[in-house]
Parts: sequence; C-alpha cells; structure tokens
Amino acid sequence: MCGIVSYLGNQNALPLLLDGLQRLEYRGYDSAGIFIQAGDKAHNGKVSGKVDDLRKHFETSLLKEAHVGLGHTRWATHGKPNQINAHPHESNDGSLVLVHNGIIENYESLKTILVEKGYRFKSETDSEVLINWIQEIKNSKQLTLGEAVHWALQTVVGAYGIVVFDKTQPDTLVTARLGSPLVIGVGEDEYFVASDATPFIQHTRNVIYLNDHEMAILQKNKPIEVQHLKSNTPIDPEIEKLHWNLEDIQKGGYDHFMLKEIFEQPQAIKNTLRGRVNLEQSKIDLSSMKRNEDRFIHATRIIILGCGTSWHAGLVGEYLIETLARIPVEVEYASEFRYRNPILYPTDIVIPISQSGETADTLAAVNIAKENGAFIYGICNVVGATIPRATDDGVYTHAGPEIGVASTKAFTSQVVVLIMMALKLARLKNALPNDQINELLLELNRLPENLETLLQHIEPIQHLAKTFDTATNCLYLGRGYNFPVALEGALKLKEISYIHAEGYPAAEMKHGPIALIDEEMPVIVIATKKGHYDKIVSNIQEIKSRKGRIIAIVSEGDETVKKLADHVIEIPISSEIFTPIYATLPLQLLSYYIAVNRNCNVDQPRNLAKSVTVE
Ligand code: G6P
Repeated sequence: MCGIVSYLGNQNALPLLLDGLQRLEYRGYDSAGIFIQAGDKAHNGKVSGKVDDLRKHFETSLLKEAHVGLGHTRWATHGKPNQINAHPHESNDGSLVLVHNGIIENYESLKTILVEKGYRFKSETDSEVLINWIQEIKNSKQLTLGEAVHWALQTVVGAYGIVVFDKTQPDTLVTARLGSPLVIGVGEDEYFVASDATPFIQHTRNVIYLNDHEMAILQKNKPIEVQHLKSNTPIDPEIEKLHWNLEDIQKGGYDHFMLKEIFEQPQAIKNTLRGRVNLEQSKIDLSSMKRNEDRFIHATRIIILGCGTSWHAGLVGEYLIETLARIPVEVEYASEFRYRNPILYPTDIVIPISQSGETADTLAAVNIAKENGAFIYGICNVVGATIPRATDDGVYTHAGPEIGVASTKAFTSQVVVLIMMALKLARLKNALPNDQINELLLELNRLPENLETLLQHIEPIQHLAKTFDTATNCLYLGRGYNFPVALEGALKLKEISYIHAEGYPAAEMKHGPIALIDEEMPVIVIATKKGHYDKIVSNIQEIKSRKGRIIAIVSEGDETVKKLADHVIEIPISSEIFTPIYATLPLQLLSYYIAVNRNCNVDQPRNLAKSVTVE
C-alpha cells in the first residue's frame, strides 16, 4: 500500500518530499524514509514511525538541501515495520536507490540467484531484492539505468510502482508501474512522481497517469520519455489537468480529516448531484448511462463489487435497484468474486464501487469480469484512478479527496450515485410511476440542505459518545435499507475506536446475537418511520426486555421508540431510499467522538490503510 513521492528540479527537494509524504500517510504510516543527493553528498534518512519522526530526523541531518530526492511511507507487507525495512532501499554497490509500492511475488527466487552471486541483504523486503536485481542487470549487461530497469522488470512477477535513482546520473529518475498507482507531475523544469497527485498539487496541475506496463524516464530540462515495458515502443504521454485545490486536502481548521469530511457531506453530495438532477424535465442526466442506455434497458442482472465501506454502499444499491427498477442485483466482496470462477452472461452489468479506484481486489475482480466479457460500469471517486481506467464506462462521485482512513463522504456520495442510477433505470424500464419518480427527485435535491441542518445538531451525539466510550462491544441493527447502515455503523466504530462491533439485520438478532444482550451492551437500532417500522419496534422491545441499552436513530417527531429507547437521535423524515444517508451521518459522528474520547488516532487507525493496493 505504501506511498511514494519523488522530485527532480530546481526547488529544495527535502521540504517538498516531507510535506508530500505527510499527505500520503493515509496509504501507510508505519515507517518512512527520504533519500536526497546534492553533488557528492547524499543522505538516506529512515525512521520507524511516522513522517513527523522523519522530519525530526532531518533536523539533525547535515544535508538538508538537494534538488533531487525519493521519499516513501510504508505499510508493511514483507518484513516488520522497522528502520531497516523502511525505504528507500539501496543496491549492494551503493549506486542505486529505490522506492517501491507493491509486492514482488517472485522475490525469493530472484534473491536466491543474487545471493549465489554474492549479494547481501540488510532488510527482509522484496524491494531490496528488486533494486539489487536492477543493479545486477545494469552492471552485468553494461546498461543505462532506463535499460536496466526495463530489462529487470521483464523478469519480475507481482505489482509495483517504483522510482529508481542512480547516484552517478543525478539528473535522472526512472519510474514504472504495474498494478500500483503512479502519477507524474509535470512542472516548469521540474518533475514529481507520486502515488497520487496530493503531494504536488500546489506546484503543478499538469499530470500524466502512468498506465500498467509503462515506464518513464524523467531528465532535467528534457521532455519526458514514456515507453511500453512489454512492446518496448515509445508512448506519447497525455498530459491531463487536475481540477481540485490544495484546500481540498487540508484540514481547514478541523481537528481531524474525518471530522472535516463528515461535515463536507452536504457539499460533497451537492457536487455529486451537480448537473445530474434535471428537475425541470424530471429526469436524471447521467451521460455515461445515456451512452449505454440499451445495455441498461436489457440488463438481466447487475453485479456490484466492492470492499469495505464501498461494499456497504453496494448493498444499499441492491435494495435501490431491485426495489425501484426491478432488476436483480447481486453484491459481492471483490476479494471473493475474483477467486470463485464467477458465472457471467453478456446481459450482465458489473458495477465496481471504489472510493480510491486502486483497491487491488476490486481491480482484479474487474479484470476477471472483463475477461468473461461482462460490461463494466464503475463508480469511483478519484478521477483517473486505475479502476475507472479499466472499466468500459462509469460515473465519478466527485466527493473530493477523502484523506481520513475511515470512509465517510465517499460512502454517502456513492449511495447518492446509486440512487440516481436506480431512478434512471426505473424510468428507462417504466418500473415506477412518473409522479413517484418526480417526488423522489425533489427529495434527492433537498438532501444537501437537510444534511446541513442535521449537522447543526451534534451536541446530543457528543454527549452520547461520553456515555458509551468505555463500551467493549456494540450491536448495530437495521432492516431493509437500514441493514447496510447497521453494517457501516459497526465498521466505523470498530475501525477507529477499536471497540468490537457487529452489524446485523434486526430480525436475525434472534438467531444468535440476542444471547449477547445484557445491561452492559449498547445496541444501536436504526428505527426510521418508513420501511419495517413496526417490526423494528418489536425488535426494540425484545432488546429492552433483556435490559440492553438502546440508542435509536428515529425519524423526527417519533414518539413510540422514544418511550422505549434509552437515547434517541432524530433524523429528517424522508422516503425510505434516503434513510441510509441521513442515518449514516449520526453514526459516523458517534464513532468519531467515541474514538476521540478514547484518544485513538482517528485519521490513521492502527493496522489500516486508506487504499489497499495489495491482496
Ligand atoms: C480500505 C479503507 C476503507 C475502504 C476500503 C475500500 O479498507 O480503509 O475505508 O472502504 O478500503 O476502498 P475503496 O477505495 O475501494 O473504496
């Protein structure tokens, strides 16, 4: 998963790399390192810990100024998260330096060959094997750095996004990718290479997204050279423009990115809806669906793929599309789908959902669906990421950069896209009366404003967080559209506060979880008016008679549940299809404040990473 950033130009590389790594910490934060070189002086500083520790390390370094450098923040795959295993790694003769994101699967066999030739290894990493493999090929065949990287990668199995530097050619960086994202920032007489564009957004908006099997040679004051690693042919790189700002990736006065992103939801959803809800003509304008209208009309099944929170959005999508458009939907964990030889038909539409567009399992599942001839229509937040590039068509959520590891605004904007898709499909298939569609469109349009109001009343949630921050277990229950909300609420709590939490369909409680309920157990029940209200009221009574502590998310003005529950949080009265959005917000906030009270690192929970680019 790791984040990489490198620089070649005329600015001082060190502060630039340190700030860049800090922005990439969402990709991994167990160790970090930066290599810089100026003339005959070089320093490879590495620490176990965060980029702040690396910053401290460089305060005492003799070399603080250089115009070229490579940085890395790590999420350990091979070898413990310690200083020795931290990147950048250097080759045995000390000439080559590498940062790597990904996994070299055949590193053991390459290592055996190198050990026989007398190579020695300091770390346990696959990356150190790769840089020595490149050195061996470069020296034995008398190649340039670019040629050696090209050769070496022909024998490498696995995934990589790499930047390689040769101390004897300080005006050159070589970068290549297969399976791990890399973006090249093209400035005035300067180049940046990073896992995403956040490290260099204030320096340049001109980017080249490197594709799989591509390698680029960046040289000072020279145009960039891109070549295909398999065919060895030159590629004319396409320079694209980024459309977001530095402020989008800063905390903007909030204590944590997660809190900022929770509060950004009204705006994020406005952006998701912008230009797509046509109230005058009572329709949804999704150009990518229009382009593929025939396929959607004749689709006999939709398969939604995703991981983590995106999978939960997919579950909401299943309820939406089946209920509104009457097309059968299956929702699969991408990690399962990819290994079970799925049966696909030409009339299937496969919808991968991914915030980052880089999740390895989702990408692999997309590729398998593609190989089986399915039509792939993606839902993604990060423009230009690998998954949207691998799909046939799709839609961006436009929620803006999400930095907090726990996904918040990405989820609600994914659900908004799914609502739009379901309504569009309902109209295409004449599955819903027009006046009903019109009413739902009006409600959809009011979402941002209602969310804004909801976010003005957070004190009761802060208060609740104080009551429950010592809990060791929590149960989340919901039915219908609110079942995925229960799963998402439980996931939010466990990932950032480390309290064990389970989400369950409320009726299933009787088949197991009810045994856990006692006076210590907080049970969060999503009990909104529309849907299976009476049934959920009975479930609440069952919990109450077992002395569970009930926190209920209810529709404004609800009196029945208020009498039964220990605490209630009100959300706006809405059609059922919108409750996953309204109900999720308070659950995000509850998890956030509980985690803060427990002194947890909200934006960077232990062992997690924002973007899981390894299996
Ligand atoms: C990680 C993140 C989650 C996210 C999941 C899927 O586990 O911590 O927040 O939901 O990956 O990521 P994607 O970018 O594909 O939505």
